[in-house]
Amino acid sequence: MAEIRFERVRKSFKDVLVIKEISLTIRDGEFFTFLGPSGCGKSTILNMIAGLEPVTGGRIYFDQDLVNDLSPKERDVAMVFQSYALYPHMTVYENMAFPLRMKRIDRERIDREVKRTAAILGLEGLLQRKPKELSGGQRQRVALGRAIIRRPRVFLMDEPLSNLDARLRVEMRAELKRLHRELKTTVVYVTHDQAEAMGLSERIAVLHRGEIQQCGSPLQIYSRPRNTFVAGFIGSPSMNFFEAEVISRSPLRLRRDGVVFEPPVTAAPEAETLLVGIRPEDVTLSVEETGIRAVVDIVEMEGPVLWVDVRWGETRLKAKASVGEGISPGETVHLRMPVERLHLFDPGTGLRL
Ligand SMILES: Nc1ncnc2c1ncn2[C@@H]1O[C@H](COP(=O)(O)OP(=O)(O)OP(=O)(O)O)[C@@H](O)[C@H]1O
Ligand SMILES: [Mg+2]
Repeated sequence: MAEIRFERVRKSFKDVLVIKEISLTIRDGEFFTFLGPSGCGKSTILNMIAGLEPVTGGRIYFDQDLVNDLSPKERDVAMVFQSYALYPHMTVYENMAFPLRMKRIDRERIDREVKRTAAILGLEGLLQRKPKELSGGQRQRVALGRAIIRRPRVFLMDEPLSNLDARLRVEMRAELKRLHRELKTTVVYVTHDQAEAMGLSERIAVLHRGEIQQCGSPLQIYSRPRNTFVAGFIGSPSMNFFEAEVISRSPLRLRRDGVVFEPPVTAAPEAETLLVGIRPEDVTLSVEETGIRAVVDIVEMEGPVLWVDVRWGETRLKAKASVGEGISPGETVHLRMPVERLHLFDPGTGLRL
């Protein structure tokens, strides 16, 4: 097991800087996720940890050891890729035994380890099958088995669930979590799927254009996003944003389309407008004739929840209601937006106030 420390790590391909400068510590035994949109540099970071890509500047340590110049083999990491290439001509047993054979471990011990690993992953009945005789989720488990059987210092996982259908993905998420609890090995995980990151991770680093936007627990990132990028990227459906006019500074009073808000904030910048964010789940439709009068545009059902697009004046928002409230397009409703749930951002910098 290992702690992984980045000290001012940079990466360029030719003269294009794709990782600006990263300094952070992934704790020993932690489930840590790099989350961000396509092209933000997630795989590049993982490849630098694995030793598959050299760093352009800075240092990477595993515990006290500087690993910059160590080969992937010397770093003792196991990587699970998005396309979990199993050897098609080998059985499940042989696929899992392969990394140990490479290490010239004796037959009996290999047999013990394969059986132990198969038991952890629920693959006992499948050991004599070939990959083509397995479902996607079972193949994914074999790929994980092949990684964990070596008991590496660190697991690196690059979107390992993206080939699975939605239901299997959720199932495998739970398995990964259980596996991490049992093995207690440091996991560095990469995904563009915020729900997956939120469900799996102890901490998340949100990446955008090669820079860490925020690093923290899922709850911290969800409840106090540091800037508009994180605020918009985390949560589904995405956070609503609207500009509001500052009509008084202390106490802070904002106005949008005739509605006045008094958010509990002490320090407001010298700006004429602020950017206000509120999550759809924090905007509720009330049956009483109180709150903001708005008109319903679109109603979408998602399980027991209705996501309702509403507008008042020029302002459009997504709000939450429950199935059974019988809301239909064109109807007039009343919105409740608790002021403590408003997120305020500087419209110039995009930073949280
Ligand atoms: N070998 C390379 N040579 C040049 N540019 C590269 C190379 N590998 C990656 N890049 C560029 O570096 C940036 C980061 O790529 P990376 O693969 O790390 O993104 P990612 O976050 O993993 O994206 P995705 O979610 O699509 O897998 C991209 O702009 C990509 O085009
Ligand atoms: Mg990638």
